[in-house]
Amino acid sequence: MKKYRIILGEREIPQAWYNVAPDLPAPLSPPIHPGTGKPIGPQDLAPIFPMELIKQEVSMEPRIEIPDDVMRVYKLWRPSPLHRAFNLEKELKTPARIYYKNESVSPAGSHKPNTAVAQAYYNKKEGVKRLVTETGAGQWGSALAFATCLLGGMDCTVYMVKVSYQQKPYRKSMMRTWKATVHPSPSPLTNAGRKMLEADPDCPGSLGLAISEAVEDAATHDDAKYSLGSVLNHVLLHQTVIGLELQKQLEIAGEKPDIITGCVGGGSNFAGLVFPFVPEKLKGGKVELIGVEPASCPTLTRGPYRYDFGDVAKMTPLLKMYTLGHSFIPPSIHAGGLRYHGAAPLLCLLVNKGVISARSYFQNEVFEAAVTFARTEGILPAPETAHAIKSGIEEAKKCRATGEEKCIVIGFSGHGHFDLAAYEAYLDDKLEDFAYPQHMIEEALKEVPVIKE
Ligand SMILES: Cc1ncc(COP(=O)(O)O)c(C=O)c1O
Repeated sequence: MKKYRIILGEREIPQAWYNVAPDLPAPLSPPIHPGTGKPIGPQDLAPIFPMELIKQEVSMEPRIEIPDDVMRVYKLWRPSPLHRAFNLEKELKTPARIYYKNESVSPAGSHKPNTAVAQAYYNKKEGVKRLVTETGAGQWGSALAFATCLLGGMDCTVYMVKVSYQQKPYRKSMMRTWKATVHPSPSPLTNAGRKMLEADPDCPGSLGLAISEAVEDAATHDDAKYSLGSVLNHVLLHQTVIGLELQKQLEIAGEKPDIITGCVGGGSNFAGLVFPFVPEKLKGGKVELIGVEPASCPTLTRGPYRYDFGDVAKMTPLLKMYTLGHSFIPPSIHAGGLRYHGAAPLLCLLVNKGVISARSYFQNEVFEAAVTFARTEGILPAPETAHAIKSGIEEAKKCRATGEEKCIVIGFSGHGHFDLAAYEAYLDDKLEDFAYPQHMIEEALKEVPVIKE
């Protein structure tokens, strides 16, 4: 009998997250203090992060146990299902077997709560009374609002990029329902926000500016800390619950994957999906691990591998990563969650060592893939997720041409129920493709400091 979904029982949620750090083929370059130019220590991060997360950031333990209180919240939706995309296979007339690991079943609609719940837990344990963060289109803000609400005893403040706050109000309503306070950014509440409003009262805001506001808020209030939804090592660690479940599910399906593909913004859902497969790959395993990004924000495919700031205001430590330059302003494509100038250092190292590959697509071809998926498998993917679907479909088409019966796994990071304006634009033929011009990348890179290693 055909099995459409491979479902694990509650007890099969992994007991520990997988830490890729001890398995890396080369040491990770340390974060650099923006003031001293020296590697940063735990004390530098203590004003904004709780100590347990700082420890996880530098941990060389191969496994880190998932606390019971985190597990209790995970159980509201985990383990997430692995689906076999029979209908999509039929539509594509491919001999490939296509699977997708469905993170859209979380209450917030994406993979983001996997780390939001863990981060809220460690902050609460260390007596933090309020968590502060930024959000672009609202996926990460809603995940953190959900996590703080479910764990209780903590407030949540979200600086939401003003243009999204005005144009996409429903994520804001979701956050408020989960008791978060949401401010449009730039706001008059921080120095960074006030400075911007003085210069331009109608400033639409940007993710970089919202990060600066959230970090300032957390750093200037003793009972508050900051929370980041991607890029950092501890965030990727928490997301490995996805790949660990996937391993069990593929075993049940009797499959060994040939290709695993996922979209990359800061890199957390893709890393969570594929890192548990890295040790086998390093031993010569056949699996191809493919990260996918927008052609309009081609960090891994066109950026150099060097130290850069994580934010526009140059407040964060410098991280060694592929970067388009911290002052890079990505065009406003609909996959808002993929518009970041850098990417996770752990992921970048593995790309640099050839363990993981990367590719990019334009948004019209990505939405075409999303619509094909919705018309066969039913779910409307988030625009970010649709990049992974496009990549999976391309691989399945190659199999149609060669007759290879590959096993392809797609990371389904979230649904697109709050992104219907983007679907509307695609269906009305109003989406524009944009490849970032090389001279603009070079211009932005001029502002990236040169760090001697
Ligand atoms: C549905 C979805 N997928 C992917 C991403 C990209 O983030 P990351 O690369 O950290 O997984 C986002 C970010 O907001 C998102 O909302």
